[in-house]
Amino acid sequence: MPKILVTGANGQLASEIKILSPAYPQYHFLFTTKEELPVENSEALKSFFRENKIDYCINCAAYTAVDKAESEKEKAFLINAVAVGELAKICFAHEAKFIHISTDYVYNGSIHQPLKEENPVGPINVYGESKLNGEELALQNNPSTLIIRTSWVYSSFGNNFVKTMLRLFREKNEINVINDQFGSPTYAADLAEVIMKFIDKGSNFSGIVNYSNSGVTTWYEFAEEIKLLVNSNCKINPIPTSAYPTPAKRPLYSVLDASKVTELLHLQIPSWKESLKKCVDILKA
Ligand SMILES: NC(=O)c1ccc[n+]([C@@H]2O[C@H](COP(=O)([O-])OP(=O)(O)OC[C@H]3O[C@@H](n4cnc5c(N)ncnc54)[C@H](OP(=O)(O)O)[C@@H]3O)[C@@H](O)[C@H]2O)c1
Repeated sequence: MPKILVTGANGQLASEIKILSPAYPQYHFLFTTKEELPVENSEALKSFFRENKIDYCINCAAYTAVDKAESEKEKAFLINAVAVGELAKICFAHEAKFIHISTDYVYNGSIHQPLKEENPVGPINVYGESKLNGEELALQNNPSTLIIRTSWVYSSFGNNFVKTMLRLFREKNEINVINDQFGSPTYAADLAEVIMKFIDKGSNFSGIVNYSNSGVTTWYEFAEEIKLLVNSNCKINPIPTSAYPTPAKRPLYSVLDASKVTELLHLQIPSWKESLKKCVDILKA
């Protein structure tokens, strides 16, 4: 039975892969947390691969604290770049397919059209730089790596925008949300399905693909949609980015063009509103 290693097991995406895994009984899944398998520990990775014959490695481990990364550059690069390069190398040596997740923050936000894989990159924050370096090292060390860039990820697990909004709606009568950053939310459960389809269809595709749910929104409109789904009375004020300074800059436009995924996997991508409803229904229950 082919073995799939999923790192960063307590994160949003890995948790969704775990929920989905019973639908794929033909694979044996091994989920490892940060404590069980810290990806920056090269010796631990090597011995794990020696002891377990891994056929696929889905790297869900990442340093995802975008603002904190500005003051923890070394740590962000260690986990998002150096460790990724090492993991890619180990997968290559063990003939395991390496599937790695990257981000819309590799783009600088100046192109206001859905972003294709070949559009120029140019991160404007440390997190984006570290993730871009991770992409580069992975492809250098293992040319058959599949990299999936995704954006604005949320799920019923972990910390994310949807859960923050639901908490704020309970705690506050009025909140301010940015209305001039454009992107596409991604339900981690949908991304988990895409990853499993890449594996299950025996797709040997390597290189970079972009994936998010379909449609475009701003954080403000995203918040309004969440509010609608839970009938909240909280007032949401749209504000510009300039009114909410953060340590890390964010691209003003990072909508991903996912047409390559649609073509490769012959699937229809759910709209962000459709998927958001599914997630909020789970959170309400
Ligand atoms: N979240 C987003 O909006 C977003 C957007 C674009 C791309 N992405 C990318 O999508 C992927 C999945 O993101 P996610 O939202 O599922 O992230 P997440 O919820 O933050 O999960 C990442 C997991 O990695 C773990 N981790 C951190 N350092 C590690 C280490 N040294 N060794 C092993 N595990 C470690 C974390 O553990 P701790 O929590 O205990 O540190 C956490 O469980 C990441 O590559 C991320 O960069 C995310």
